Amino acid sequence: MHEKLPEERSLLNIGDVFEDEQRSIKRAFKSRNIHPSFFFVAILLLSISLLANLALFGQVKLLKTERGLGRSEYTGLALDTPSSYHIYTEFINHNRSISDPLWEALDSSPIVVALDAAYARRHKLKESIPFPWDQSKGLYHIKAFHHIHCLKNIRHAYLTALSSPESESRIPPSHILHCLDTIRQDLMCHADDTPMPTVNERHKIGDGQPRKCKNWDALVKWTQEPERQTCFRMIDEYRRVPNSLEEFAFCPEGQEFDKIRDSMNAYFGKWGHKDPFGGGKKSSG
Ligand SMILES: *[C@@H]1O[C@H](CO)[C@@H](O)[C@H](O)[C@H]1NC(C)=O
Repeated sequence: MHEKLPEERSLLNIGDVFEDEQRSIKRAFKSRNIHPSFFFVAILLLSISLLANLALFGQVKLLKTERGLGRSEYTGLALDTPSSYHIYTEFINHNRSISDPLWEALDSSPIVVALDAAYARRHKLKESIPFPWDQSKGLYHIKAFHHIHCLKNIRHAYLTALSSPESESRIPPSHILHCLDTIRQDLMCHADDTPMPTVNERHKIGDGQPRKCKNWDALVKWTQEPERQTCFRMIDEYRRVPNSLEEFAFCPEGQEFDKIRDSMNAYFGKWGHKDPFGGGKKSSG
């Protein structure tokens, strides 16, 4: 009687094939009547099984590495850029003619991007208000720039309070408290668990420790691509801008921005520009 060999079955179902293989082995050893092609088939099947396992292992490892790099599903950016943490940076220079320009140069304008409906669906983002110059897209705020905006406001309010404790800061305390809590929540969510080496000196913990960061410039670049461009510029970081459309009036040069620039020009051509901080008309045309 000739036994039906496993190779005649679909190799797609590796589990079934493997069971058949084991049954064949048992039967073969019982009868001591080993068909010459049996070893070939057994080795073939074992090789397939091994290869499948290796492929699976490779994929799991890749997934783990990707996760280790914290690759973002939104931008594809990962924690792959070497950097180091420093206790002292010029951002805390007491001489404000040195530290202020550094903070001001840290631009929070890339905060707003335009994302199309397909992107939002793919990433399970809730619907957002429409981008004025292309209503097929929604306006989204990128967290990192929101937090930079918040930090700048906290610093501004704090330094103002220090220098003139009597005067009321222009920034409402509720904004500062919101900023502190937003940073608290995200800090606790991301909970950086890097142990910082400690030395027996004040304000030295973790100084110079290497680490991997996201590439900030690459994130800025991502927000400024033509497909996500919003022509947004933060007119005043420390004041509310009631006529907020005026912040969307800064379309970059270049023909890749022609479509939104035309749309923007059509709007301002019809309605004119307004004072960003007041109600009235500033200019028209
Ligand atoms: C602060 O820095 C500026 C620019 O480097 C410099 O001209 C000025 O003398 C410094 N002020 C003090 C008090 O050190």
